[in-house]
Amino acid sequence: MAKVKTKFFCTECGYEAPKWYGKCPGCQSWNSMVEETEKVVKTQGMNSSLFTTKEKPLPIIEIDSGKEPRVQTGIKELNRVLGGGIVPGSLVLVGGDPGIGKSTLLLQTSHEMTQAGLKVLYISGEESIRQTKLRAERLGALSPELYVLCESNMELIEEAIESIQPDFLVIDSIQTVYQPEVTSAPGSVSQVRECTARFMRIAKGKGIATVLVGHVTKEGAIAGPRLLEHMVDCVLYFEGERHQTYRLLRAVKNRFGSTNEIGIFEMSETGLVEVANPSELFLSERPLGVAGSTVVASMEGTRPVLVELQALVSATHFPSPRRMSTGVDHQRMSLIIAVLEKRMGMFLQNQDAYLNVAGGVKLDEPAVDLAIAVSIASSFRDAPTRPFDVVFGEIGLTGEVRAVSRAEQRVKEAEKLGFKRVILPEKSLKGWKRPGGIEIIGVNTVAEALAVAL
Ligand code: TYD
Ligand code: MG
Repeated sequence: MAKVKTKFFCTECGYEAPKWYGKCPGCQSWNSMVEETEKVVKTQGMNSSLFTTKEKPLPIIEIDSGKEPRVQTGIKELNRVLGGGIVPGSLVLVGGDPGIGKSTLLLQTSHEMTQAGLKVLYISGEESIRQTKLRAERLGALSPELYVLCESNMELIEEAIESIQPDFLVIDSIQTVYQPEVTSAPGSVSQVRECTARFMRIAKGKGIATVLVGHVTKEGAIAGPRLLEHMVDCVLYFEGERHQTYRLLRAVKNRFGSTNEIGIFEMSETGLVEVANPSELFLSERPLGVAGSTVVASMEGTRPVLVELQALVSATHFPSPRRMSTGVDHQRMSLIIAVLEKRMGMFLQNQDAYLNVAGGVKLDEPAVDLAIAVSIASSFRDAPTRPFDVVFGEIGLTGEVRAVSRAEQRVKEAEKLGFKRVILPEKSLKGWKRPGGIEIIGVNTVAEALAVAL
């Protein structure tokens, strides 16, 4: 007789407990525990070993590291986010809201992989093969080496993998796959976990690069991909505003590369188009010569990106003024406002301040400090900034402007896009040759920067 067990799982982090909690002891989130009955006939779970070869421990200097071989996916932005291509045998999770474009991205990737001479198996548990065919026709992704299967039973999926022997495998989505011997519903925590563990074994065992698609939902019914983050090699998030046409692909975990890189795509009728020059896109709707708008040169991974920062400072109607920011850290904004008050004598205590990064980009490096300060001061004084200035630099608590990394690359990007002046930390000027086509002004304090910029 199979044993029936009742367990409680946190849908956020996968914490497992014998009883229900209102607040998950693992990740402290509220109301995230769900009950699942499990009848496990045959345990093939996380506990069974992934690598079953019996090997002796080796001195580290004797281990042949080789180089991780990489397969270029044919989509440059995706290669960049993965750290230079996909590693055979790796398990990648692509998460994102429903409808954001995950299936489109992966079908396009699958097609590109076949162009590189690989055999691809695309398993859809969400759409019929006809729907997938229609989508592929629209995307121009018809290729004889692209195999499609609509299936959600793990056993049958494994059989298909066995018979096709693909080099690249897509599971769209992990929440639809189930193992018959685990009795809980598809998408439940134990199913998603078991199935992922099994795909991991298949990927590592056969050397198949595998991509799992996972929906992110706030509700408890479907196990969120966050649960799987520690099990897979790479976690990519596909994000974007629903009403905007571009999409960002961001790595939050990558065992084979950095997590700083972002990939930028634009949506079109015929699928996702790579954006080679993101600065142009982010600056395309910029108003010129207005108060509160500043262009900052920020590094997104290894690539400099110019983005517009907007501030609005206006008299408050509330007992304590509002401070709102999107795209930059709220704490950072408060800190810079405090510096402007104390060091520049600006009276901002009775002013609301709103800060927005155009285009939904998130700027999280300190080099954007100076641009935040210039935007806020510009809006507060109602003094327009010059439309062809680029500003970057970190601000210290005494109002000093501190050096930042990769000044040369940032300046070059500004020059390339036709900007006339760059205001940057004086201390960042050492050690590189200044390009001739752009005026460069080094500053040591916030006061100096504001005197130049406004
Ligand atoms: P889809 O890839 O199905 O999203 P997900 O798999 O994340 O749920 O895309 C959602 C819809 O958007 C779908 O109807 C196709 C459309 N779409 C385009 O028309 N062009 C595009 O470039 C993208 C990404 C999507
Ligand atoms: Mg989909």
